Amino acid sequence: MASDDSILDVQRLKKSFGGLVAVRDFSFHLGKGEILGLMGPNGAGKTTVFNLISGVYKPDSGVIKYKGMNIVGLPPHKIRRLGIARTYQIPQPFPRLTVLQNVQIAAMYGGGFSKAESEKRAHEVLDFIGLSDKKDMPAGNLKLLDLKMLELARAIVSNPSVLLVDEVGAGLREAEIPHLVKILKTINEMGVSIMLIEHIPRLVVETVDRLIVMNAGEKIADGKPREVIRDARVIECYLGKEIVEE
Ligand SMILES: Nc1ncnc2c1ncn2[C@@H]1O[C@H](COP(=O)(O)OP(=O)(O)OP(=O)(O)O)[C@@H](O)[C@H]1O
Ligand SMILES: [Mg+2]
Repeated sequence: MASDDSILDVQRLKKSFGGLVAVRDFSFHLGKGEILGLMGPNGAGKTTVFNLISGVYKPDSGVIKYKGMNIVGLPPHKIRRLGIARTYQIPQPFPRLTVLQNVQIAAMYGGGFSKAESEKRAHEVLDFIGLSDKKDMPAGNLKLLDLKMLELARAIVSNPSVLLVDEVGAGLREAEIPHLVKILKTINEMGVSIMLIEHIPRLVVETVDRLIVMNAGEKIADGKPREVIRDARVIECYLGKEIVEE
């Protein structure tokens, strides 16, 4: 059940693509100040949920309330301006522009800041994320970890209230995970409510306050991370493999 403390309150969301129901009767809330994990096997519908919240797709039915207001039907740029930012599973920078320009543009168009203010904010965010030394490189030359960090920088530079993070840890080496956990927790401590799609159990359990698991478009578990990853239905949908913390 959602409470008055919810910043996002999603009710009975449904989205099909042709005959395929990607998201079915999906309800959940994101508490103010919470870090909420979203797991599920490939094709479960996780990215589609983000695409629905961020306005990339319009749901067939259902309600998405952000700070009490139904945002269904609003275009992505309006939703972003209202304070919901996201990263993309496949990073989508402007490859020929520099890292700094990429972040600056996100501040201008995503956050509505002036050119000068956007540049100042971009420098601050790159410093925080640890990309300052690469700020003058074309974004297309970045390696995977840095591209993922650039995605995060572009999302947070607009000063969002809600941050949707889609598999920013995918492809990272074990040694790179603590850096990411720390960055996400610091963003959260700055007052941003976070929803995190992630496959890496260690990253999820160390980072999130609550965990939702979906399978075939439906929610199958919602609760404390350590309990959810041991839930029989969750283990079953991951092809019988136990999601163990390494
Ligand atoms: N634009 C689209 N057109 C047609 N089918 C789509 C579209 N977007 C998603 N789907 C389908 O919807 C289902 C859910 O996809 P989605 O990308 O949300 O899964 P996911 O949980 O993010 O998976 P992954 O872990 O692989 O990223 C899949 O069967 C996918 O093929
Ligand atoms: Mg996905």
